[in-house]
Amino acid sequence: MPEIGPPLTPHATRLVLLGSGELGREVAIEAMRLGCEVVAVDRYPGAPAMQVAHRFHTCLMTDPDRLRIMLEQELAIPHDRLLVVPELEAIATPVLESLEADGMHVVPTARAARLTMDREGIRRLAAEELGLPTSPYRFCDSQDEVNGAVAELGVPCVVKPVMSSSGKGQSVVREPGGGPAAWDYAQRGGRVGEGRVIVEGFVEFDYEITLLTVRHAGGTTFCAPIGHVQEDGDYRESWQPHPMSDAALAAAKDVAGRITEALGGYGLFGVELFIRGDEVLFSEVSPRPHDTGMVTMATQRASEFALHVRAILGLPIPEGDDGFVPLTAPGASAVLLADANGDTPMVEGLEAALAVDPTVDVRIFGKPDARPGRRMGVALATGADAEAARAVAREAASKLSVR
Ligand SMILES: Nc1ncnc2c1ncn2[C@@H]1O[C@H](COP(=O)(O)OP(=O)(O)O)[C@@H](O)[C@H]1O
Ligand SMILES: [Mg+2]
Repeated sequence: MPEIGPPLTPHATRLVLLGSGELGREVAIEAMRLGCEVVAVDRYPGAPAMQVAHRFHTCLMTDPDRLRIMLEQELAIPHDRLLVVPELEAIATPVLESLEADGMHVVPTARAARLTMDREGIRRLAAEELGLPTSPYRFCDSQDEVNGAVAELGVPCVVKPVMSSSGKGQSVVREPGGGPAAWDYAQRGGRVGEGRVIVEGFVEFDYEITLLTVRHAGGTTFCAPIGHVQEDGDYRESWQPHPMSDAALAAAKDVAGRITEALGGYGLFGVELFIRGDEVLFSEVSPRPHDTGMVTMATQRASEFALHVRAILGLPIPEGDDGFVPLTAPGASAVLLADANGDTPMVEGLEAALAVDPTVDVRIFGKPDARPGRRMGVALATGADAEAARAVAREAASKLSVR
């Protein structure tokens, strides 16, 4: 294990965060607590992680030339260790692969960043190479192909651009004639504009979870399952632990262990799974902390962000007798969303939110502007069980608003 030298010196251990949202901000804070230098990168100035980093770059990371220039500049500044830590999917990943081949370290690996940046790479790896159970699916490049897939898979089914996140361009087809509208919607909602979509059979799951999975020098360790509710493509509430049968939990660990092993490297992964009885279907995976995992800031001594940083530095991960990262208490998170566009969003209601219960904690992300549905903060709480914590977190979040 290399030593940690002071930030902003030639002996720094430097993290270059590609993406500077609220998840990156927590990674930055945890890395700084261990003495690392943090460079935050995003396409707009004033992003949450930039506000707490040693330095920042404003850089359009989907532009390969700009991404390469920025990374080469960082590589040229003397350091002991440099770790490139992607925080979002929209990155020109071929640049990461080429610089990795020259010795740059990408977390967890450049290949993992490439495979998870589009739904096709990760779905084909999971279903076709590893044989993991998933929803039935077809990839389509035209409205005609979508019509064919809808007829084959039946309704309801889900249509998603292969390059999209947070539910953008995603819709459920409920009528046999709904293909064209879903295709059009996906063409407008994808990250890169028009293009390929995936049509997935709709899974009537009992519940869905995120299984945070840490690959580290000592092996693979799981966090207790996180339950969550999704609405309009974004998570609204999450809680931990979510009760599961022994058989479903064992299957979930097996699926998460296999997909993360195939992606490789060290770091924390958010494995999204659909659960139906004792059956577990793989949905998708983030090779980085997951938004629903913000609940771990309330429930675990080492949050998902702390675990990510420890894993990528080669440090040990806390593990209880049951093989999971220990929980300090059951807990929940509930998000605060903006409902309008605004230049100087003002968050109101902190006093009332914190007065709901002594276990309540609030994170305000400090985003410089608001738009409808943008996540601006989160309320966290603990309780005797996850249901009790959910009620408290929800109530605390309901006291917050964005003006
Ligand atoms: N095939 C499916 N069947 C049922 N629900 C689905 C399916 N695909 C997605 N969903 C629902 O939509 C949510 C978002 O889909 P997901 O594929 O995770 O997209 P994103 O990358 O935007 O998070 C899921 O968490 C789940 O609630
Ligand atoms: Mg998802």
